[in-house]
Amino acid sequence: MAATENPVEKLLSLKGEVASIPFPTDEKELDALRVKYLGKKGIVSLISQDMRSVPADQKPEAGRLLLEIRTAVENLVETSGAEIKRNRIRLEIENEFFDVTLPGTAPRFGAAHPISAVMDEIVDIFSGMGFQVEEGPEAESDLYNFEKLNFPPDHPARDMQDTFHLLGVDKILRTHTSPVQIRAMEKYGAPLAVIAPGKVYRCDADVTHSPMFHQIEGFVIDKKITMGDMKGTLQTFIHRLYGKDTKVRFRPSFFPFVEPGAEMDVSCVICGAKGCRVCKNSGWLEILGAGMIHPNVLSASGIDPNAWGGFAFGLGIERIAMLKYGVDDIRLFFENDMRFLRQF
Ligand code: PHE
Repeated sequence: MAATENPVEKLLSLKGEVASIPFPTDEKELDALRVKYLGKKGIVSLISQDMRSVPADQKPEAGRLLLEIRTAVENLVETSGAEIKRNRIRLEIENEFFDVTLPGTAPRFGAAHPISAVMDEIVDIFSGMGFQVEEGPEAESDLYNFEKLNFPPDHPARDMQDTFHLLGVDKILRTHTSPVQIRAMEKYGAPLAVIAPGKVYRCDADVTHSPMFHQIEGFVIDKKITMGDMKGTLQTFIHRLYGKDTKVRFRPSFFPFVEPGAEMDVSCVICGAKGCRVCKNSGWLEILGAGMIHPNVLSASGIDPNAWGGFAFGLGIERIAMLKYGVDDIRLFFENDMRFLRQF
């Protein structure tokens, strides 16, 4: 402040000037205002530095005025700053545009693997008929996988060709779910109706065979069980799985743990029994193995074969799933390619 001017008068006129500053309307104006008055080289700062040269008798008045001016400018900056910010946000919201007609991004839901889905469906059907669900170990002993199931010691199915032997332990990977028959009979005794789903392993791999696949075992133990009970149960199951028009037929077959043994066919669900590539023009599809539980198997499980009888069946899930979904390579189920799995 030049010494020739009266500092108090100068400050009074500055106070008037500050009081009439128009309200800044945008951030640029606000910034300019802040710099002009409050900046390092702004008017208020410069006056503060000059206070030294104000005559002592005017100092209190000058100091008070300077404080008033500074406060007025600071208040103006603060209130207009808040107002400008509010306006900017309001404008942003007003100008924001949502096109509600644009197609959305559908969330992707997980789903059961086709093998699990088929397994659940079959377990549901048998649960509804009063079967209880049991599971057994995948690393199984020769005793349960073969011996107690009446496999003669030199039976070819014990051959290294079919069976995975676990190194260092006296265990194999179970080649079928039939050992669960023995385990459940030993655990619960008779009467009994069990359904046993699970993984099984065989040293075999091509388009229709996988070294790991899934089976469902089922069996019933009671007094006076006949093949008629077996046929009725399995026919009911097939009607629930594939529909009432599906026909079933039984052919004699051999498994060491049943006598008599049978294989069940269903009328081809692909071509409606007219004949196609899948049923090899026969109109029939082989679907499961079954039979009346061998007396030796009952005895081996502590059940008196003279008092009790039973039937058992075992089916491969992959085969049912391949037929159901028209898949012709079993390996597709286990590659976990999402493009394949998403189709189910
Ligand atoms: N365990 C037999 C298999 O894996 C299937 C089967 C089960 C046959 C029960 C008869 C009775 O081939």
